[in-house]
Amino acid sequence: MKVKSGAIHRPALLQEAIKFLRILPGKKYIDATVGGGGHAGEIIKRGGVLLGIDWDKEMLAKAKFHLRSVCPDGNWRLRQGNFARLKKIAQKEGFFPVRGIIFDLGLAADHYRQLKRGFSFNDFAPLDMRIGKEGETLKEKLMRVSPEELEEILEKFAQEPLAKVIAQEIVRRRKSLKTAADLGRLVEKIYQEQKVKTKLHPATKVFLALRIWVNKEEENLKRGLEGAWSLLEKGGRLVVISFHSGEDRLVKMFFKKIAGERRGKIFSPVFPGKEEVKVNPLARSAILRCLEKI
Ligand SMILES: C[S@@+](CC[C@H](N)C(=O)[O-])C[C@H]1O[C@@H](n2cnc3c(N)ncnc32)[C@H](O)[C@@H]1O
Repeated sequence: MKVKSGAIHRPALLQEAIKFLRILPGKKYIDATVGGGGHAGEIIKRGGVLLGIDWDKEMLAKAKFHLRSVCPDGNWRLRQGNFARLKKIAQKEGFFPVRGIIFDLGLAADHYRQLKRGFSFNDFAPLDMRIGKEGETLKEKLMRVSPEELEEILEKFAQEPLAKVIAQEIVRRRKSLKTAADLGRLVEKIYQEQKVKTKLHPATKVFLALRIWVNKEEENLKRGLEGAWSLLEKGGRLVVISFHSGEDRLVKMFFKKIAGERRGKIFSPVFPGKEEVKVNPLARSAILRCLEKI
């Protein structure tokens, strides 16, 4: 795929993540969500040997463009894949053991504003939502789901307060829903009819829940964290940046389990400051957690 420019994504908590990773020249690091290459570029500039992974080929092309321009002489390689298979991908590339691994979860700004994959409620793109373009699209899944199942998905993944009525309406109108914007408008209309006010766009939670469902994000994260931990050397660090309470809960539980078994040391979580949120609103819900192997 030809990409003429790098990503529009601005990495969240960049300096903090790099500080926690304590980059040592010549040591191996993995960026399991390389995205536009923002975190990866800083690792390579400090002499780290990097394996960058992304499930999305289009993001990998953007990372390549960025890394070629900022670190042409660095030691890095990029591979496409789901981080649920991190252990296998890393072992195949000889990245075992490694000094540090970073997961910067979720989507890049490019997914919302540029890549027409139906992630945004303003998107006149088909109901797809697949990050890695594997498996069933959102439209295919919606055509088979029952209202009860969909209600549970909206509640479980995003605590959507109008889950029941939204699920019923989506199932009733699913044949005619063509684009993400159609779905966004439907949810907006339900909120208006129910006279419920929200700070964010009314479809924010629905879109989050559907994306988590389509991509099996919870399962991927659990497997990714297990794989990452097995790849780290003693003294190595795992840094995870999450963007919603569901994924942060999984990270916290995983870290607590390891620390409880006296295999790891947890650092206090870090949040973006007001200044960062002002220039990068997508970072507003970011939370960084770090675990060191002992
Ligand atoms: C927030 S962005 C990362 C941004 C990156 N740190 C940077 O500096 O540009 C998250 C990236 O993770 C990728 N991603 C999401 N789920 C994934 C998965 N299961 N496996 C691998 N990559 C994934 C997305 O395609 C996206 O590019």
